[in-house]
Amino acid sequence: MIQHPAFTVEPWAVRECSLDLDLLAQTESVFALSNGHIGLRANLDEGEPYGQPGTYLNSVYELRPLPHAEAGYGDPESGQTVVNVTNGKLIRLLVDDEPFDVRYGTLHEHERVLDLRAGTLTRKVHWSSPTGAEVRVTSTRLVSFTHRAVAAILYEVEPVDRSLGVVVQSELVANETVEYTGGDPRAAAALTSPLVLEENFPASAGVAIMVHSTRASRLRVAAAMCHDVDGPEGTLIEAQGSGDVSRVTVATRLKPGERLRLVKYFAYGWSAKRSRPAMHDQVVAALAAARLVGWDGLLADQRRFLDKFWDGADVEVEGDPEVQQAVRFGLFHLVQASARLENRPIPGKGLTGNGYDGHAFWDTEMFVLPVLTYTHPRAAADALSWRKSILPKARDRAVQLGLGGAAFPWRTINGEECSGYWPAGTAAFHINADIAYAVVRYVDATEDTRFERDTGLPLLVETARLWCALGHHDADGRFRIDGVTGPDEYSAVADNNVYTNLLAQQNLREAAETATRHLDRAQELGVTLEEAATWRDAAIAMYVPYDERLGVHPQSEGFTSHAVWDFAAIRPDQYPLMLHFPYFDLYRKQVVKQADLVLAIQLRGDAFTPEQKARDFAYYEALTVRDSSLSACTQAVVAAEVGHIQLAYRYLGEAALMDLDDLEKNTVDGIHLAALAGAWIALVAGFGGMRSGQGRMCFAPKLPSGITRLAFRLRYHGRLLRVGITPRSATYRLLEGPPLTLTHYGKELSVDGRAVTRRIPEVPVPELTIHQPPGREPALRRPGRKPRPPGTIA
Ligand code: BGC
Repeated sequence: MIQHPAFTVEPWAVRECSLDLDLLAQTESVFALSNGHIGLRANLDEGEPYGQPGTYLNSVYELRPLPHAEAGYGDPESGQTVVNVTNGKLIRLLVDDEPFDVRYGTLHEHERVLDLRAGTLTRKVHWSSPTGAEVRVTSTRLVSFTHRAVAAILYEVEPVDRSLGVVVQSELVANETVEYTGGDPRAAAALTSPLVLEENFPASAGVAIMVHSTRASRLRVAAAMCHDVDGPEGTLIEAQGSGDVSRVTVATRLKPGERLRLVKYFAYGWSAKRSRPAMHDQVVAALAAARLVGWDGLLADQRRFLDKFWDGADVEVEGDPEVQQAVRFGLFHLVQASARLENRPIPGKGLTGNGYDGHAFWDTEMFVLPVLTYTHPRAAADALSWRKSILPKARDRAVQLGLGGAAFPWRTINGEECSGYWPAGTAAFHINADIAYAVVRYVDATEDTRFERDTGLPLLVETARLWCALGHHDADGRFRIDGVTGPDEYSAVADNNVYTNLLAQQNLREAAETATRHLDRAQELGVTLEEAATWRDAAIAMYVPYDERLGVHPQSEGFTSHAVWDFAAIRPDQYPLMLHFPYFDLYRKQVVKQADLVLAIQLRGDAFTPEQKARDFAYYEALTVRDSSLSACTQAVVAAEVGHIQLAYRYLGEAALMDLDDLEKNTVDGIHLAALAGAWIALVAGFGGMRSGQGRMCFAPKLPSGITRLAFRLRYHGRLLRVGITPRSATYRLLEGPPLTLTHYGKELSVDGRAVTRRIPEVPVPELTIHQPPGREPALRRPGRKPRPPGTIA
């Protein structure tokens, strides 16, 4: 039976009303705090018990062996794994000499609240020690959006009914024991005590500093802490530091009505180049800046930052409080994963866990960036700037593979390919077109010509070059891209994957057009008129297979002739299929892990007629098992487009509740950022019918019966647009910026600061019936979770 944490359903918070130790690891991910640079899993302040300790710095990784059963040319030789760095969250408490530990004594009350507007995680505890010493403890934690290197905790202790001796130990601890879940003993060995101590400077002068470096990747990590302590007279403060631990101990005696208040500021920095003294100074400076602002200042800045974010990003969902909460929760994790990225990747799990070794995938460009582009565009630009920064490595990889241009890694932290299984890694060349697609979308939405010239153009040029090297014109003149893997990882190394070819076509076309807009820069990149002409020719001649007999697009050439997987013979416990059946068999049958052709329909709608969309959708629904969390949102969008609105609604629920309900039972490893982004995508592109490109923003809204009103905000061409949708009408209004022309069901509409309302046409009943493989229908929602208890603060 699936267990669910006691999260309440609230519009602006995620609240856990009591502590369930069996679910600790999941809640550590759900309640994780991050700013895209620092990531803190929601480990309890006192450090134990824990599901998985986790403190991450974006792009701090260790190299590890990447074993291959039979090595082949071009296989990556080493992998990269995110490292659990120095833990600055630790605050231990002793009450009358008894350590506060939720596994002992009596826990009268334990509440944790992730506040999506304040950007804090608050914990309230009422506990009696085994000997009856009763205390209330409150802690509030933040990872600052405005001070990139800084996190802080306000920790308060009060006795309940009698005078108590209280000792608080605030620590920095490196090399905590972390369970490696990858199952490879060599990797586990590389990750045991990954940090080598270079300096432990105790807090004698108020600031404690520890500097370490990773063994093989040779990255230097500095962490520092300092405190503001407020307690009764006679409160004693001591500092010690040795080995991998630095500790500040505060001892006091508290009478009822008195309280010990401690603000812990901690800061991080890392570098591959800077010296130990430089890193030491860097974190000391970060602490000084944080202290100057103070706890209240950090809190106020945090709220201001989020107010601004929500102003441009909020989504209101009336009629479905679970989805309302989930979409805001998802947006919150998106902004957490990207706010202070500054030229670093967005991993598939953000900085909330060590799942997928902390790698970034196409998840970023195809799921996360579509949301950020319209809600927090600067973060989208940052993520793409990181791609540009790894272009030299992608060029080297292309050379290694005997190709031209750049071959971006399927999964990576530092820019080098880390996928140990090439058919679903290196062969997934669509990642290159995905990056190009994200560039084009960002430029289209923001009109950021400087970015286009400096960052977009090199990415488009090098990826276009890759397609020219990878594909060829056949005897009939068609441009073919053979032997690649599309998004569906249950098919590999296939010819003319429709998704790949359509996105490559756009990549080639846009590279040529962008080069024309920035001729001087294109020349610097070596682009000649002849080369741009070859891109255009390849785009015009791009082969898109079609099965005339069935009247559908094969996902890849020949796919529709394969045997259909025997779905009826599969037991529910045999999903995900890849864990129970050999890849060779999955590869030669019609069975789809995740939306592939259907994603092509969403992103290249111009390449399909409405009839083809409906027929293709019906065909692939019957084959798609959704063994990846990246599928449901795409299926929601296309289901809505072809008229299956209630089905779209079910898929929305699946994407939105992926982590709050732990649907895949692996939220312990970190949240599913792409699925959380998918909730927004399903609402805005699905029920809002939003499509944009070529300088146009189009809507075709329609609501499922579970949602009575939907409203969202988008940033587009320097405007802030608000779209409000009810079952019968849609209202468009600009909250910022000059008038804008958009389309509502294909009709042009000029929008300014006044509300313009348009009727929503009746949705025709779709002709085709839809079914999924038996047992793989999108789940009906479980009976709702509890609402917020009365008297608690939102
Ligand atoms: C999916 C990929 C995805 C990866 C990371 C895999 O299961 O098939 O599409 O990029 O997970 O989320």
